[in-house]
Amino acid sequence: MTEHMNIAVFASGSGSNFQAMVEHETIRPHIKLLVCDKPGAKVIDRAEQYGIPVVVRRQADFPGKESYEQDILKHLQEQTITWIFLAGYMRLIGPTLLHPFSGKIVNIHPSLLPDFPGLNAIQQALKAGVRETGVTIHFVDAGMDTGPVIAQQTVPVLPGDTENTLQTRVQKVEHTLYPETIVKLINK
Ligand code: GRF
Repeated sequence: MTEHMNIAVFASGSGSNFQAMVEHETIRPHIKLLVCDKPGAKVIDRAEQYGIPVVVRRQADFPGKESYEQDILKHLQEQTITWIFLAGYMRLIGPTLLHPFSGKIVNIHPSLLPDFPGLNAIQQALKAGVRETGVTIHFVDAGMDTGPVIAQQTVPVLPGDTENTLQTRVQKVEHTLYPETIVKLINK
């Protein structure tokens, strides 16, 4: 791994995946920035605890998506970011960020894509009555959870599962699969 692997994590929520990355000793030194679009999100506290710089921006405070992403791009460039890992960032990435980071933006999704894309993937799996679901890590393109798959791991759906119990099982897999995949990607 070279000195030039500078990671920004984009997250909007709790940040348990962000925490799993930060706790991984190979990844930790490369995390230079957290970008968050939800003031007050728990992930912001986690970043501050680890002394990781945070940029909090609400798209609603900008005239549109392009100017919002231009502002974020400026911060990414200031930190010479080379990889973006989305971890519960609940927005589509627009061309302003996709073009300069082509092939360098990765997302984690709590289903076996192409099954159950978009919101509430755990709920969708329960409703569909599938016996297994899982976790997908994929490159980001302009679509919703549509880019090329990098890694997948299955998770069983057990009789009596609720959204909570299934989500807990899925997230446990996320917290090892994402860091492992990141290490492989940035080592290439
Ligand atoms: C994860 O389940 C991830 O797959 C999805 O959003 C959730 C984020 O959880 N994209 P957390 O904020 O990392 O706890």
